[in-house]
Amino acid sequence: MPESEGSESPVGLRAVRADITTLHVDAIVNAANSSLLGGGGVDGAIHRAAGPDLVHECRLLGGCRTGDAKLTRGYNLPAKFIIHTVGPVWRGGAHGEPDLLASCYRRSLAIAAMNDIRTIAFPSISTGIYGYPIELAAQLAIEVVGSELRGKTQLREVIFCCFSQEDLQVYERLSAAPRPRIR
Ligand code: AR6
Repeated sequence: MPESEGSESPVGLRAVRADITTLHVDAIVNAANSSLLGGGGVDGAIHRAAGPDLVHECRLLGGCRTGDAKLTRGYNLPAKFIIHTVGPVWRGGAHGEPDLLASCYRRSLAIAAMNDIRTIAFPSISTGIYGYPIELAAQLAIEVVGSELRGKTQLREVIFCCFSQEDLQVYERLSAAPRPRIR
């Protein structure tokens, strides 16, 4: 198992190709929109798999700002929790998109820490309907998550869940570069 360089117990980091709704982890992350009331892409898949009680809980949350994240239960999913985060829409890269995308990963990990979530899976936030270039987004995700895991963490496993073989190849290629390493 590949490991991060945390001073506490090491964290497993890996990229897989999967439907995130099938993963048996403590929490999956949803690439939502600011209404938190569902949509297409991974958001639609998560709402379909979790069942209608999810949107009822989401209605109570009052939406979510871009770059922020909010927690719900996982309902019919194998995952106990869903962390809903809102990535930026890609508008060329000079409109704060990297900072906002980094914030999605950091806020999701902060919520995981507050809820003693040990295993978590991220989709490739913003790289579908929101148009963020996969190479740039994957590089940022690997760097930000790797850096967050270098401190003290309750996490045992972080999965980058890719929907396509092409996306998985990007994560694998970028993670072969110097630190942090994933496989
Ligand atoms: N499992 C894992 N990854 C998936 C799945 C799945 N079941 N389905 C899609 N992906 P997107 P965004 C991948 O468009 O770009 C929604 O309508 C997909 O291939 O889901 O952040 C929301 O409500 C891509 O790599 O999210 C928002 O309005 C990645 O998930 C908007 O889309 C993200 O693609 C958010 O757009």
